[in-house]
Amino acid sequence: MHSISPPGVALAVRGLTRTYGSGDQTVAALRGIDLTLSSGTFTVVMGPSGSGKSTLLNCISGLEHPTSGSVTIAGEDISGWSESQLTVLRRQRLGFVFQGFHLIPYLTAEQNIGLPIRLAGRRPKRDHIHSLLASVDLLDRGGRLPSELSGGQQQRVAIARAMATSPAVLLADEPTGAVDSANARSVLGLLRNTVDTLGQTILMVTHDPVAAAYADSAVFLVDGHVAGRMHGPTADAVAAQIANLDELITGQLVEVST
Ligand SMILES: Nc1ncnc2c1ncn2[C@@H]1O[C@H](COP(=O)(O)OP(=O)(O)OP(=O)(O)O)[C@@H](O)[C@H]1O
Ligand SMILES: [Mg+2]
Repeated sequence: MHSISPPGVALAVRGLTRTYGSGDQTVAALRGIDLTLSSGTFTVVMGPSGSGKSTLLNCISGLEHPTSGSVTIAGEDISGWSESQLTVLRRQRLGFVFQGFHLIPYLTAEQNIGLPIRLAGRRPKRDHIHSLLASVDLLDRGGRLPSELSGGQQQRVAIARAMATSPAVLLADEPTGAVDSANARSVLGLLRNTVDTLGQTILMVTHDPVAAAYADSAVFLVDGHVAGRMHGPTADAVAAQIANLDELITGQLVEVST
């Protein structure tokens, strides 16, 4: 069925570049990114503001078209796909969690979680919605509107919604940026749990070394390049690496072991 990538690879990015504008106005947001995510692994992308993190996520989700290079998701190279194919990809093969939750305000938690299934043309099954609610510890809140939930609870609903279609890759852009530290720990613990218990693959952008420590590996972007990678990141090691990103700008790709 999926024959292009080796088995066990959820996402492969090859030679990805993205240039905006032309002439004097040219901005090279991505300058040749290579990244492979094995299935069931949790990877964070870190880097200064403007280093290309959101552009990378947007190219992976097909919201932006790369200038060159390829993105392969669950064995399928999405280069050249039509907008309607990319819309189906986003609905069925990818999950999204954003800083601002992006829940539909007039739908209950349950209805929000079931939305991707409805958009895929199916009826959400009650048991499935309940197991998703239970997995984010919100079984007793399914009938609430987002405005009746705390920020942390809203983000947990957003995670359950992102998981509803069992996506090949869950993409998260600063998912803990708008919640307090206790809720951030619970959101990160949940994300980690989906990896450990369900084999979910996650790619998360964060500025927070503590958040990075929940991941299996950290990728450091500098000026549109992958400047370093760290396996088994700890908060201290990540913080130290971020403090030294200037060294990575001019240096070769650095592999850091913790
Ligand atoms: N639509 C666009 N048109 C022109 N330039 C853009 C556009 N989108 C992003 N850029 C530029 O591309 C570069 C990378 O931007 P990107 O949003 O990917 O950074 P980021 O790492 O996500 O930063 P932050 O941490 O601030 O969110 C920046 O220099 C930005 O100004
Ligand atoms: Mg960004």
